[in-house]
Amino acid sequence: MSNKRIGILVSGRGSNMEAIVRASKQGLVDYDVAVCISDKASAPAVQKARDLGVPGVVVRKRDYPDRGAFEQAMGDVLGEYDVDLVVLAGFMRLLSGVFVRRFPGRIVNIHPSLLPAFPGLNAQSQAWEHGVKVSGLTIHFVDEGLDSGPIIFQYPVPVWPGDTADDLAARILVYEHRFYPLVIDAVVAGDFEMQGRRVMLKRRIKGAFEGD
Ligand code: GRF
Repeated sequence: MSNKRIGILVSGRGSNMEAIVRASKQGLVDYDVAVCISDKASAPAVQKARDLGVPGVVVRKRDYPDRGAFEQAMGDVLGEYDVDLVVLAGFMRLLSGVFVRRFPGRIVNIHPSLLPAFPGLNAQSQAWEHGVKVSGLTIHFVDEGLDSGPIIFQYPVPVWPGDTADDLAARILVYEHRFYPLVIDAVVAGDFEMQGRRVMLKRRIKGAFEGD
């Protein structure tokens, strides 16, 4: 068993959460998933986590007087489970500076476009409607802004003639599932260096840009 522990925040489907947990169970990575927290009781991700043997905890904003108290409660759960890294996987809320500073340099997110292009909601449809021929995914550290933190890893995904926005989203998702666990593993192991706001990964991510 690894001593590195991660906590995953979700709001919805949970396919990335599932890929992150499965990679750990298969021994492809060296972290343990300590807890999965959802801000929505109805999120399929909660049951999926429990089915995978990961504690699924619901922390709903409406059960707290304000955003500060809600985030405090989420942070307390992450603290109870003693996590080394907080992993956002389809978590649909912006986090405040107070929360971000509670886990300094220890929150990562995945976004389905090549940032800084197409931040925010429905990134795949934004890219498709814009007519780009290459989109992709970005894994980045989280700051207070919208998809604006330091970029850790990106991977390009082509847009083919005849694709719908859904085709593009599905193609990107395959790579999200492949790379997010490996990048989390590198980050939680401390295998990176900051140069200003530039993040230099110190290990190769298996399957990415091989042959270069
Ligand atoms: C993914 O496309 C991820 O990039 C974005 O939200 C979506 C979450 O999907 N942040 P899932 O809940 O992991 O299936």
